[in-house]
Amino acid sequence: MAVPKVYVTRVIAEPALELIRSEAEVALWPDPEVPPPHAEIVRQVREADGLVCLLTDRVDAEVIATGERLRVISIMAVGYDNIDVAAANARRIPIGNTPGVLTEATADLTWALLMAAARRVAEGDRYVRADRWKSWSPQLLLGRDVYGATLGIVGLGRIGQAVARRARGFEMRVVYYDHSPKPEAERDLGVEGVDFETLVRGSDFISLHVPLSGETRHLIGERELGLMKPTAILINTARGQVVDQEALVLALREGRLAAAGLDVFQVEPLPRDDPLLSLDNVVLLPHLGSASIVTRTRMAMMAAENLVAGLRGERPPYLVNPEVLLNDLVPS
Ligand code: NAP
Ligand code: GLV
Repeated sequence: MAVPKVYVTRVIAEPALELIRSEAEVALWPDPEVPPPHAEIVRQVREADGLVCLLTDRVDAEVIATGERLRVISIMAVGYDNIDVAAANARRIPIGNTPGVLTEATADLTWALLMAAARRVAEGDRYVRADRWKSWSPQLLLGRDVYGATLGIVGLGRIGQAVARRARGFEMRVVYYDHSPKPEAERDLGVEGVDFETLVRGSDFISLHVPLSGETRHLIGERELGLMKPTAILINTARGQVVDQEALVLALREGRLAAAGLDVFQVEPLPRDDPLLSLDNVVLLPHLGSASIVTRTRMAMMAAENLVAGLRGERPPYLVNPEVLLNDLVPS
C-alpha cells in the first residue's frame, strides 16, 4: 500500500511530527511564525491524504473540494470555527481537535488577563519603563477589586468551569449564562445560572468562553456593552468575533466600560493601526491561551494521534463530527 501523504501547516512539537512521519510522508510549511497562504494550502492538499492545520488556516469548501484524497483533517486547537464542517461532512471526512488538554492553561491565562486589567498591570509596567515613577502616590494607577466581586461567565464548558473554580480563591460570586443549563457544575462549583441580560447587567467581570458560531458572533455588541456597569471589565479568551470590536473600542474610549483584557481579535494579528492599540484601559495578548510548553506539546501529540487514526480508517480519539462515521466507514 502506498505511503499516505500529509500536509502539516506549521512546525509543531517534534515528537508529534515523528509520530506522523512514522505513518506518512510529510510536507511541512517551514515558517514558524507566518502561516501558509490559502493558495498554498489549496495546492498542497491536492496530493494529501491528511491535513494537520492550525486555527490560523482557513480550511474552507475550496480546500476540502480540492483535497480529493483527504481522509482526515486534524486541527491543533479546540476551536474549529475556521473549518467548514459541513463541507467535510459532505465528503465524510472526520475532523479531530484537541479538547481538554488546554483547559487549565487557558483558564490560567484568562485569570492573568483579568488580574492585569483589574489592577492595571500592563499600564504600570509601561509607566515604570517610561521613567514616569516619581514616588508612591495615593492616587497612582488605582484599579478595581477582584476579591469579593461578581464574575459572569458566558459559556460554562471546560474552560468556563476551570475559570469559575479559580474564582473560589477570590471569594467571588460567580454567575453564568450558557445555552444549556449545567446543574452538575452549579452544584460542584457553587455557581448560579442566570439569563444573559442579568449576567451582563450585574457582573463586575465578564469572561467569554463560548465557541464562535452563528449564534455567538457579536454576542457582545453595542447593546450589551450599554447594559454593563461602567466599572465592569470584559475578558475575551474565546474568539475575537464573539465581540463587536468597533463597539468595544467606543465603550472603552468613552469610559462606558472600565477596561478589557483581550487574547483574541476579530482580525489576527491585530493590525498596526487598530484603535485598540491607542487605548490604555485594555490589555492585549497575541492569542496565548494555551501557550505553555507542556500544553502545546500535548496538543501537538493529540493532533498527531487524531491524524494517524484517521489515516488508518479508525475513529480519531477526539472527533468533532461523529456523524461522518455513522456507518463506521471512512471512504478511502
Ligand atoms: P466547551 O467545553 O465546548 O465550552 C463551551 C461552552 O459554551 C459549552 O458549555 C457550550 O454549551 C456553551 N455554548 C455553546 N454555544 C453557546 C451559545 N450560543 N450560547 C451560550 N453558550 C453556548 O469549549 P472549551 O474547551 O471550554 O473552549 C471554549 C472556546 O474557547 C473554544 O471554542 C475556543 O474558541 C476558545 N479557546 C481559546 C483559546 C485561546 O488560546 N485563547 C484556547 C482554547 C479555547 P454546550 O456544551 O451545551 O453546547
Ligand atoms: C485556541 O484558540 C484553541 O481553540 O485551541
